Amino acid sequence: MPDQYAVIGNPVAHSKSPLIHTEFARQTGQDLVYGRLLAPRDAFAATANAFRADGGRGLNVTLPFKGEAFRFATLVSERASAAQAVNTLKFEHGVIFGDNTDGAGLVNDLMRNLAFAINGQRILLLGAGGAAHGVVEPLLQQQPAQFVLANRTLDKAQRLAQRFDGALEAGTYAALAGRQFDLVINATSASLAGELPPLPPGVFARGALAYDLMYGRGETPFLAFARNAGVALRADGLGMLVEQAAESFFIWRGVRPDSAPVLKQLRRTHDA
Ligand code: ATR
Repeated sequence: MPDQYAVIGNPVAHSKSPLIHTEFARQTGQDLVYGRLLAPRDAFAATANAFRADGGRGLNVTLPFKGEAFRFATLVSERASAAQAVNTLKFEHGVIFGDNTDGAGLVNDLMRNLAFAINGQRILLLGAGGAAHGVVEPLLQQQPAQFVLANRTLDKAQRLAQRFDGALEAGTYAALAGRQFDLVINATSASLAGELPPLPPGVFARGALAYDLMYGRGETPFLAFARNAGVALRADGLGMLVEQAAESFFIWRGVRPDSAPVLKQLRRTHDA
């Protein structure tokens, strides 16, 4: 019987992870099946435990369970601990290992797929919720020249910044007036409501990259804003999705899949 994996979430029907991991498995010749697991909102642990008891080898965790998955794990990686969230669970030798590959997925998408060197650049991260928590530490590791975190609710940004010993500067959107950044990352959930954080349009430096962790059919409000501000380099979160999956696949199987053709294929069907 092939090894069993799944993505657990609520909702989970829209998830592209089964498609991505099935393609990775085909490409690397790994004998596994990867499905979807819908967990009731109040029964993440019970659902994950049942999957594990049935011989399941690992799970990807999506909204709204990444925080619960962190507490569910019996052993967590340093990067999961920094994010206080887990998107990858591996069941092996009685251990529930929790890791977080979201930040590595973003950094790999930026550096490999978009050929953007983070080192020495001025970064602006928008939002201080779950998505922002996952990406701070891996971005900091690339040693940007500046790292500013802006959030509607200032104290949430300040609390996140405090965890990184002064490496991050927290502020409001209004405080961004007159400042410019080489990389602006939208980690807010504003796009879900068709909204936009109140950004000053001059926030993009010449040649800046605008990156939205969200993706969907059509342009997100943030990327439309960047386009209107004259930003030529714009990317949505589809590349990050494939790269975080590649990193999870490596954790489970010890084999690194080639993400580029899978991203290309996904982009074709996604934009169609
Ligand atoms: P959580 O809700 O657990 O914090 P999240 O859903 O990832 O996790 O967080 C949502 C993020 O998007 C927050 O940073 C939120 O800002 P606040 O902390 O001020 O609420 C931000 N956000 C959501 N809608 C927004 C909007 N219309 N404009 C600006 N920021 C928004």
